[in-house]
Amino acid sequence: MSIKKTQTYEEALEKEERQEELERTKASEFAAFDDAAEAAKEETAREEKARADADLPPDPDVLLEVRHLKKYFPLKKTLAGKVTLSLRAVDDVSFKLKAGETLGIVGESGCGKTTLGRTILKLYQPTDGQIFFAGQEIAKYSPSKMRPLRTQMQIIFQDPYSSLPPRSTVGGILSEPVRVHKIVPREQVKDYVLKIMEQCGLRDYYYERYPHEFSGGQRQRICIARALTVQPKLVICDEPVSALDVSIQAQIINLLKRLQTTMGFTYVFISHDLSVVKHISDHIGVMYLGSMVEFGDKKSIFENPLHPYTQALFSAVPNPNPDVKMNRIVLKGDIPSPANPPKGCKFHTRCPMAMEVCKHIAPAYKEYEPGHFAACHCYPQGEVKGPVKAVSLQEETGRED
Ligand SMILES: Nc1ncnc2c1ncn2[C@@H]1O[C@H](COP(=O)(O)OP(=O)(O)OP(=O)(O)O)[C@@H](O)[C@H]1O
Ligand code: SF4
Ligand SMILES: [Mg+2]
Repeated sequence: MSIKKTQTYEEALEKEERQEELERTKASEFAAFDDAAEAAKEETAREEKARADADLPPDPDVLLEVRHLKKYFPLKKTLAGKVTLSLRAVDDVSFKLKAGETLGIVGESGCGKTTLGRTILKLYQPTDGQIFFAGQEIAKYSPSKMRPLRTQMQIIFQDPYSSLPPRSTVGGILSEPVRVHKIVPREQVKDYVLKIMEQCGLRDYYYERYPHEFSGGQRQRICIARALTVQPKLVICDEPVSALDVSIQAQIINLLKRLQTTMGFTYVFISHDLSVVKHISDHIGVMYLGSMVEFGDKKSIFENPLHPYTQALFSAVPNPNPDVKMNRIVLKGDIPSPANPPKGCKFHTRCPMAMEVCKHIAPAYKEYEPGHFAACHCYPQGEVKGPVKAVSLQEETGRED
């Protein structure tokens, strides 16, 4: 076993000076750099890419394909109505999702998860980008054109208390969408609803009871049953178990998984809880300040996370193996405002691996392994097939930690 030599004070000082010198050199490379011009150039490049991608046909193998999706909320307008400041809640997000699979969306509060879900469902009109649902480009569909598709796309909310009408019975709540959308003939509605209730673990005598008579878990089952009554293809689950006790969470997650197996639903599952996301997802998308910073299948994201933000988020997931030491990466600082995101890489103000270049140039979102995308300057090699490694940050920054 080799014993590491303890650094002397002089050696440590010398190393520190070398590091500072290197950082000064790097900073001087960017001294005459015009960040505004770079941002404009980057915006133009992104727009060109979006325009080129817009002509591609939809992928026939997927149920949902999102391309360069943006949702900006206007914050300030001139008297003439021109938007002068907007909040980029969803900023150029792209991904594909096959039928019968689950995409988990993770990220800190305010990163745009809910806005992404709602924009996909057209509950918010997208600012830009394309949404292909079952091959149809729905981003620019009018509300009336969306109507026939509404039953195929459903949402389950976090709060099962406020999302049920208090004055209707469970039977009334579940029958209404069946009748409105004429899912089955009138005389079969009750039997149909009772069958859905059984599938969702709700007893038949609940039919006559009111939402306030149920616990949180049972109410969430009612919400799930209501979404299922119209036989959707895609269900967006926005933090569906966050408001529930841990034991009830597991029951609801298992119910969603069972329904997916028997009925073939496709889920976009939004959650803060990475253990839950790990359990239910096939693919995972990691969002930061409105951008998708990494996307890939569950195994790649958990075993080979590329983006420093993903690495930090996932370092907090408890490992069931007591012999595995947790190396938790604690991020410094607060999340910046999406109305005024940092220049260059949006994550540079909190990134433990940030380099000078990160402050000035936004990294491109690239595919590193088949289906595994990330946006980070640590991987300048571009598209590679096979295991991906960060370039030596020691080389780049002179750091040894
Ligand atoms: N209708 C709106 N008008 C203006 N800004 C909005 C609106 N809805 C959301 N935002 C802003 O957009 C950003 C993203 O919000 P969103 O609710 O999508 O985040 P989130 O990731 O779902 O957060 P959480 O985990 O807390 O639910 C936030 O800064 C939020 O304040
Ligand atoms: S581009 Fe730079 S700041 Fe951004 S995540 Fe990568 S290393 Fe960190
Ligand atoms: Mg949310």
